[in-house]
Amino acid sequence: MRVDRFLSNLPRFNRKQVRLLLVEKRVRIDGKVVSDPHSEVLEFSRVEVDDEVLQVGKPARYFMLNKPPGCVSATRDPQHPTVLDLIHEPDKDDLHIAGRLDFNTTGLMIITNDGSWSRRLTQPQTKLPKVYYVETEQDIGPEYAVTFNEGLYFAFEDLTTQPAELVLLGAKAARLSIVEGRYHQVKRMFGHFDNKVLRLHRESMGPLRLDNALKPGEYRALRTEEIQLI
Ligand code: URA
Repeated sequence: MRVDRFLSNLPRFNRKQVRLLLVEKRVRIDGKVVSDPHSEVLEFSRVEVDDEVLQVGKPARYFMLNKPPGCVSATRDPQHPTVLDLIHEPDKDDLHIAGRLDFNTTGLMIITNDGSWSRRLTQPQTKLPKVYYVETEQDIGPEYAVTFNEGLYFAFEDLTTQPAELVLLGAKAARLSIVEGRYHQVKRMFGHFDNKVLRLHRESMGPLRLDNALKPGEYRALRTEEIQLI
């Protein structure tokens, strides 16, 4: 929310007073003086006027998990363990998953309570590559890379997938880089060639790489430098 709206929503300030507060440089967001009425106030922002704290700001939290097979990318599931069951943190209800993985897909999963940060990571417009290691039932032909690069038509969503890059690692193994996260996208792309995906592992999302030190099921908080990359 814009800072001018945030302040004028409080019963004590009217719009004129808010304009003055900003011009007189009496408003601080996260310790920095702001005078631009468009400056953004997030639920995580600390907002002060003079020496009074108007909003403390929730702590923003960011984790990377090495998702094991056999767990659901959901916050709750009646039958199966969920990735959230692997996270032992307070206020787990605030957390969400940035980019789901299928039940048996393994690898990098990002969990956070910061919605605008996770949208930047996952939305196709930002074109951050999600890189998967893939093993298949049949051989992967040279035509796959061409088709994936041109994009595949997904009738259900009525869209053509954005160009994806395929690097062959063996007859039945490859690394695939996609910028979207459509439902079962990788499996459907290989499915176009009637080739079943037997193993799928996400190695990275944009600049965030799965930490080799994390065993399946383990997680850690992201470092400040990692958070700032997005
Ligand atoms: N594509 C899939 O088909 N499954 C995943 O889990 C991730 C991407």
